[in-house]
Amino acid sequence: MEKLLENIIESNRRYTVQGELASYIPELTKANKDALGIFITTLNGEEFYAGDNEIKFTIQSISKIISLIIAIMDNGKDYVFSKVGMEPTKDSFNSIIDLELNDLNKPLNPMINAGAIATVSMIRGKDKDEVFSRILEFTKKLCGNEDLKVNESVYISEKKTGSRNRALAYFMKSTSIIEKDVEEVLDVYFKQCSIEVTSKDLSKIALVFANEGVSPWSEERIMPKEVTRIIKTIMTTCGMYDASGEFAVNIGLPSKSGVGGGILAVAPGKMGIGIVGPALDEKGNSIAGVEVLKDLSHELELSIF
Ligand code: DON
Repeated sequence: MEKLLENIIESNRRYTVQGELASYIPELTKANKDALGIFITTLNGEEFYAGDNEIKFTIQSISKIISLIIAIMDNGKDYVFSKVGMEPTKDSFNSIIDLELNDLNKPLNPMINAGAIATVSMIRGKDKDEVFSRILEFTKKLCGNEDLKVNESVYISEKKTGSRNRALAYFMKSTSIIEKDVEEVLDVYFKQCSIEVTSKDLSKIALVFANEGVSPWSEERIMPKEVTRIIKTIMTTCGMYDASGEFAVNIGLPSKSGVGGGILAVAPGKMGIGIVGPALDEKGNSIAGVEVLKDLSHELELSIF
């Protein structure tokens, strides 16, 4: 297995030069564009890794699945999906046009920025600090890693330059999708996107989904099985944004990407996969990371379809 992973990483490194770092968050341009790594944890506790698997990066949009879990556990699925849709979109993750011109009168799904910001607004807590602390603690539990922290420079960079997210959020306030104070909701959203992880952390989160919500190491049920089913479905249809269809055909694993270069992929009943590769394609997915997953899914026959 280790040999296989090394071969897959080395043969796909060439794709990193074709991608770009996310420059709309200035701090993300400090990442190493050539990096590429993978970490796999299997349900029977084995760990396999290759490449630059140890580098740290910010979780970015992968955090959207974590806030969705908490929002559903706090409010129930019917309430959450009364404010956010469950339909994929052909538009980009930060699309503004999508928000007003769809028939649902709500963001299309919880994986695009508008839907994720609305989801964060539904998480319970007496103030923004308590809401964020619940997200961070839940993420630590999912990873089995007590040391997770916010990358302060990325958080500040996002907060300073997040005009587009602000536009989405204020629009949603005007239509009562968001009921709380907009700046407080955005602050939590920027912070959750700036939690720093490794490919190992992502593989551990994915493993909890692969195990239908029970932590394989503590054997604690972290979320109801029904919640894992919803999240895996949304990841499959919307997790890779407007590339989700092609990704489902070529790879066939519930997955979520982030502009920090991470991809989390779930092989149900088998393994959790974490990828890092900060060079992105034009849709905001790790360009080489997608190729790595393509080879891995093919070699190990992982597609769920
Ligand atoms: O809101 C943003 O734009 C970022 N914090 C997260 C976007 C993201 O990761 C999109 N993923 N590919």
